[in-house]
Amino acid sequence: MHDRAARPAGAVKSAAAIATEIMILLNIDVRIAQVRPRVEATVHRLPAPSHAHVHAFLVRCSVRCPQCIRWGGLHFSAETADAIAAGFSFAFRKAFCEEARYDFIRNLEERIMKTETLESVAKKLVAPGKGILAADESSGTIEKRLKSINVPSTEENRRAYREILFTTAGAGEFISGVILFDETIRQKTRDGRTFVEALEQQGIIPGIKVDKGAKPMANFPGEKITEGLDGLRDRLTEYRKLGARFAKWRAVITIGEKIPTQTCINANAEALARYATLCQEGELVPIVEPEVLMDGTHTIERCFEVTEQTLRSVFVALAEHRVVLEGMLLKPNMVLSGKDCPQQASVQEVAEATVRCMKRVVPAAVPGLVFLSGGQTDQQATEHLNAMNQMEGLPWQLSFSYGRALQAPVLKAWKGDPAKVADAQQAFHHRALCNSKARFGKYTEDLESAKAA
Ligand code: 13P
Repeated sequence: MHDRAARPAGAVKSAAAIATEIMILLNIDVRIAQVRPRVEATVHRLPAPSHAHVHAFLVRCSVRCPQCIRWGGLHFSAETADAIAAGFSFAFRKAFCEEARYDFIRNLEERIMKTETLESVAKKLVAPGKGILAADESSGTIEKRLKSINVPSTEENRRAYREILFTTAGAGEFISGVILFDETIRQKTRDGRTFVEALEQQGIIPGIKVDKGAKPMANFPGEKITEGLDGLRDRLTEYRKLGARFAKWRAVITIGEKIPTQTCINANAEALARYATLCQEGELVPIVEPEVLMDGTHTIERCFEVTEQTLRSVFVALAEHRVVLEGMLLKPNMVLSGKDCPQQASVQEVAEATVRCMKRVVPAAVPGLVFLSGGQTDQQATEHLNAMNQMEGLPWQLSFSYGRALQAPVLKAWKGDPAKVADAQQAFHHRALCNSKARFGKYTEDLESAKAA
């Protein structure tokens, strides 16, 4: 059947045997018998593999190369060892995988590649001087925002408003990414470009909110659980095709009397972790957002305690679900006094408490923290970010992913008037610039008056 004479007889046998042994070693159930004849046929045609080929393959399999490092730790027979050194080739591996339709190696390569892509997108999102615009308000929330300026929430008004934000000239200098809503990712600018294209032309990475909102948690009065896992894998595939490169899922933790419960925290952490792994599988960088709300009369100390408890649970769940930390971003709340607490912490106190809390629980492998503004005024949110970035020894990029704190001045300037679009864009540009300065700890209050001048 094969031209065995062309190769030493032992080489064919040994190569197949090695494959078996390696696969067993790696606990992979392949039907060797089914593919052996075709593998052997392929092996016959192969040129002698170089050490570089053998080495590359073994290293990828996390197996030590026998030619470089002796057999320490591996339990191959002497015969197998000889065969590896003599004949286990890169091409054999390829043939084996293709024929077996169990492409372990390809999966491994893809995983490595995906991780690299996820990592590079995550890093771009927290590039120095840049941060994220959260423009992913659900239909209900955008209605509230537009109502505040007496603009009815029609599809065209929502589109026109988002176009103001996304087409602001120079926004790409300060904004790395924009989080879109399901409706928004399908909309276009007036001149016919999709919003995704318009953002990309500004060098801005499009992202997408994928949760379906925080709903009352059954049996846990006053607490919420975020829904949206059902069908998420397919939705992520569609969003990826529409151009999204990252996603967001927001969990909400409320501070009150006897809440939050550990049950609520864990349930939300589990959902965040399941969302994050699905994102990474679908090649989207997950932004993991466990928001401890600032509503309430609680002190900054209580916020610290709950934020720490929440983040601990989130990172345990992320680890259990094997989320690659380098390929995700955390979107935390800052550690603040409750909105109605009589004793309001200073900017410096907020910055110190937030960084101390994050350092306790957020692994340094996470490339960046992109804070939400959560109801702070736009200026407060900038000042807090600025003060944190003036601190030494930060293991991650500290950035922003603000919704209200970037958009409040835009809404105020626009008010639905087409003649005010330029003013609205200037307001957005200015706010983005202030936060960009805060990324370097170089924001000063003078910048606020510079805009007015
Ligand atoms: P805020 O900055 O308004 O809190 O919005 C950020 C966000 O995306 C909340 O999910």
